[in-house]
Amino acid sequence: MTTTGNGDDCVAFNIEDGIAWVRFNRPDKRNSMSPKLNRRMDAVLDALEFHDDVGLLVLSGEGSAWSAGMDLKEYFRETEAGGLGAVRQAQREAYGWWRRLRWFQKPTIACVNGWCFGGGYGPLYACDLAIAAEEAMFGLSEINWGILPGGGATKVVSDLIPMRDAMYHALTGEPVDGRKAAEWRLVNEAVPRDRLEARVREIAAVLLAKNPIALKATKDAIRRVREMTYDNAEDYLVRAQEAANFHDAQGRHEGLRQFIDEKSYKPGLAAYDRARSI
Ligand code: COA
Repeated sequence: MTTTGNGDDCVAFNIEDGIAWVRFNRPDKRNSMSPKLNRRMDAVLDALEFHDDVGLLVLSGEGSAWSAGMDLKEYFRETEAGGLGAVRQAQREAYGWWRRLRWFQKPTIACVNGWCFGGGYGPLYACDLAIAAEEAMFGLSEINWGILPGGGATKVVSDLIPMRDAMYHALTGEPVDGRKAAEWRLVNEAVPRDRLEARVREIAAVLLAKNPIALKATKDAIRRVREMTYDNAEDYLVRAQEAANFHDAQGRHEGLRQFIDEKSYKPGLAAYDRARSI
């Protein structure tokens, strides 16, 4: 197991059994995202994305929060004091790592252990899957301090939540718990806090057994085809599969062989054994 991060580091991470556990690490500030945290997160993603020991990334938080959103002091007030250039730079740094996470090479799971507010919806949406503690609280708190939910947060709720619920959530600023977030499909599911990491590990184990090239092609396809016509999606998917074949020439042949010739598994029920080659 590799471990890095200490009390001074606003992002902590360790690698364990193919999983990179990355944690917002400013618990005293409820893991709000400062410019320093955003720069550090970008560097951590950089270090992990093509790391041979990493098959999947989990994003969690230290302490009682997942992330209380943007740091109102360091991200908003102090950068605004620095003028438009400073504001744009802070936005580039935040949006940059969220974008990077959306298209991350490995599958990603948000493990939402606690508070998740405002700007936190950016990395929440960026993760492919999201599992929350039932006790976690989600809120678009921007309206409560006098701004609109920016930094993608409005887009996130518009994409994921039914319109009436998204409107109510954004206009009232009322937080909801993990159960309601799951009912709205803001997250995949909610489990009791003491079951959260175990449930994330179960899902991770399922994904780690799959062909990693196929996982990347599939997660990108799910995001891309949402904005395509049927015909464009059909064409994109043909080309995406052919591109995947370039990076993994044998995988699908082995999957077919184990089912058709060897009859050692059923693709309808589980993945082929990647450890065995032809
Ligand atoms: N930005 C900057 N600082 C924040 C912060 C944020 N988004 N969220 C929490 N903090 C800081 C507090 O200022 C406080 O700092 P201090 O100890 O130096 O006074 C510390 O974190 C603890 O916060 P506190 O409010 O005492 O914690 P709590 O557990 O009682 O409440 C929250 C947690 C998340 C409900 C509350 O902190 C909150 O409402 N935060 C703002 C959420 C928000 O609007 N985010 C959207 C930003 S886009």
